[in-house]
Amino acid sequence: MEPTLRQILRAHRRIAPYIHRTPILTSATANQLTGLNVFFKTENFQKTGSFKARGAINGILSLQERKPNVKGVVTHSSGNHGLALAWAAQQLKMPCLVVVPENTAAVKINAVKTYGAEVVLSQPTPQARKLLCKELSAEKSYEIIEPFDNYDVIAGQATIAIELMEQVSDLEAIVVPVGGGGLSAGIALATKLSKPHIRVLMVEPKGKELAKSMKAGNWMWDGPDRNFSTVADSINRQHLGKLTWPIVLKYAESDVLTVEDEEIIQGMKFAFQRLKIVVEPASATGLTSLLTRKLQKINSSLQNVGVIVCGGNVDLDHLPWYDHQASK
Ligand SMILES: Cc1ncc(COP(=O)(O)O)c(C=O)c1O
Repeated sequence: MEPTLRQILRAHRRIAPYIHRTPILTSATANQLTGLNVFFKTENFQKTGSFKARGAINGILSLQERKPNVKGVVTHSSGNHGLALAWAAQQLKMPCLVVVPENTAAVKINAVKTYGAEVVLSQPTPQARKLLCKELSAEKSYEIIEPFDNYDVIAGQATIAIELMEQVSDLEAIVVPVGGGGLSAGIALATKLSKPHIRVLMVEPKGKELAKSMKAGNWMWDGPDRNFSTVADSINRQHLGKLTWPIVLKYAESDVLTVEDEEIIQGMKFAFQRLKIVVEPASATGLTSLLTRKLQKINSSLQNVGVIVCGGNVDLDHLPWYDHQASK
């Protein structure tokens, strides 16, 4: 069953000793350029550099409450969830395996190892890494903590909205980047179950095609899961999850904001230069959807808007304004 508000509040108390209550940033320039009051929830300052620390540690702690003898945990991820689970397992002194696609950058693999997790390489498809994760779980008797399709992970991510609503009292909308949907599902649940008048809008990179499915009220992508091409590499998967899709369909706005690579790059530059914060491309999608007035076109009456700045794990040797230009 999808997490209740009570379970989300419990998750927040459970993870509070381990995570940062991340600050809200405001910017007069952002307000002026967008015509809004924008409140940035800066999860780039979270432990491990992304919001994923919340879901990962809630995943393990909740599991331990149900099964005190958990031997270890395993997941599949090419990025922030793997890093976050490795960190969470280290906090709780638990063995951890992370399956990563073999084409993952060495810098990311090394970061996971720094937190003491063991890295296992898989073929670079979503299906292959999931399968290997399952096999390792069976072989080692470790529990799988999925990156997004897990109710404890969703409840962990939902705690961002609990904090944001406490930090900004008169919020009217929250803009949230979407990958597999754990972040959006969590934010939408926490928001709608406590302050239903606040709108939750998902923002996707062009190529994901979630906007079509949300408009239709039906899942429109009938192919297998795959990664599509976008500079926002941490949200480049086509599919939402079996658990996350029904939640966002029920609680998020049917209008999805779609942003292009060039716009994401501009948003990222704005964050570096004006907000003075390091953000990864996925993190710039919300900001850029406001700078390009996509949200304002959908609803011109909104004033106070929260933006989830979801992570700051960017490879400084591969900044997209160099790599993207070179690949054109
Ligand atoms: C920085 C960042 N933002 C957003 C997302 C999307 O989260 P979800 O897959 O829960 O939709 C991810 C997922 O890895 C991420 O790493």
